[in-house]
Amino acid sequence: MIHDPNKVYIFDTTLRDGEQVPGCQLDTNQKIEIAKSLELLGVDVIEAGFPVSSPGDFNSVIELSKAVTNPVICALTRANKNDIDVAADALRHAKRPRIHTGIGSSDFHIKHKFNSTREDILARAVEAVKYAKKYVEDVEFYAEDAGRADIEFLAKMVEAVIAAGATVVNIPDTNGYCLPDQYGSKILFLKENVKNIDNAIISVHCHNDLGLATANSIAGLQNGARQVECTINGIGERAGNTSMEEVVMILKTHKVLGLNTSIDATQFYDISHTVRNQMNMPVQPNKAIVGANAFSHSSGIHQDGFLKNRENYEIIKPEDVGFPDATIVLTARSGRHALKHHLERLGHKLEKEHLDIVYKQFLVLADSKQGINDTDLNQLVALHLA
Ligand code: KIV
Ligand code: ZN
Repeated sequence: MIHDPNKVYIFDTTLRDGEQVPGCQLDTNQKIEIAKSLELLGVDVIEAGFPVSSPGDFNSVIELSKAVTNPVICALTRANKNDIDVAADALRHAKRPRIHTGIGSSDFHIKHKFNSTREDILARAVEAVKYAKKYVEDVEFYAEDAGRADIEFLAKMVEAVIAAGATVVNIPDTNGYCLPDQYGSKILFLKENVKNIDNAIISVHCHNDLGLATANSIAGLQNGARQVECTINGIGERAGNTSMEEVVMILKTHKVLGLNTSIDATQFYDISHTVRNQMNMPVQPNKAIVGANAFSHSSGIHQDGFLKNRENYEIIKPEDVGFPDATIVLTARSGRHALKHHLERLGHKLEKEHLDIVYKQFLVLADSKQGINDTDLNQLVALHLA
């Protein structure tokens, strides 16, 4: 198969890294509903779970493998035979199975998590990939805490696991530690110094502890990575994972990057709501792309500019991500132009002098109230005309 060198593979981990958040646990039916929506959205890979972690997760990977056809179904393991045996069993119905195995790569993890040595960890990494390869052709290797790993050792590990058969090498910034240029340089170093790197796809997997998950993922893609691991609404461990909707819309908005995905972005609004409802995990109103305020304009200066030409304050059309429409919210910071817009929407065409009077009354009301609704507006006009 010929790969488009500019295609970015979207690896969704909402159902694995996202679902492990306290309170977000889903049953198998809920996972299937989300997985079907992810398939419709056009993701390339669905990480369906960590089968050895619980009977429920094992069962979910089995059922998702049956329910979903197009995306690769991926199951997470640690670098040991039992995890891999269990994952392979859970993936037995998958049309396109992938085992995602790995181990810590930073000296910190090697010493304080595994109480081990670089040599031993390297051997375990290679052994795990070779073992997973007995079951499936598609094996992804993750070098946990790669964000803090020594780059020479990381390169050695990546080369060894590719030689052992890894088809994808995941370079996670597990702790959300890196700055974008540091993370980008890491990916570039691997691209330039690992001699067999072209035999695998480099994947970026970033956490948001410093609010840099999306920026780091983009830096990785700019430096040669071609798979991004992400979640809907950016949910995930601690401060979350890279948000899929942000990455996809950055690539669409900045065409100069020359990268594309197979995602149908018009589904973001719907799938964001499905995930927040199923997982009982609200989304902050100012969240990029899918937050309730992402397309609402509230200050007078912005409203005036928006009403003259939407593109003064809109770099993405709401309909491009499935949002019902942009909204002009009426508050005490709104101007006459916004008030006139809403009054006309309600059928009230007022002459300038009347509009000025209603505007003054509107400001008094808006100072005393959180938001002005249609009933308030109709009452203001009725009082004025009385
Ligand atoms: O953040 C991380 O390192 C992970 C791995 C298990 C891929 O989630
Ligand atoms: Zn993670």
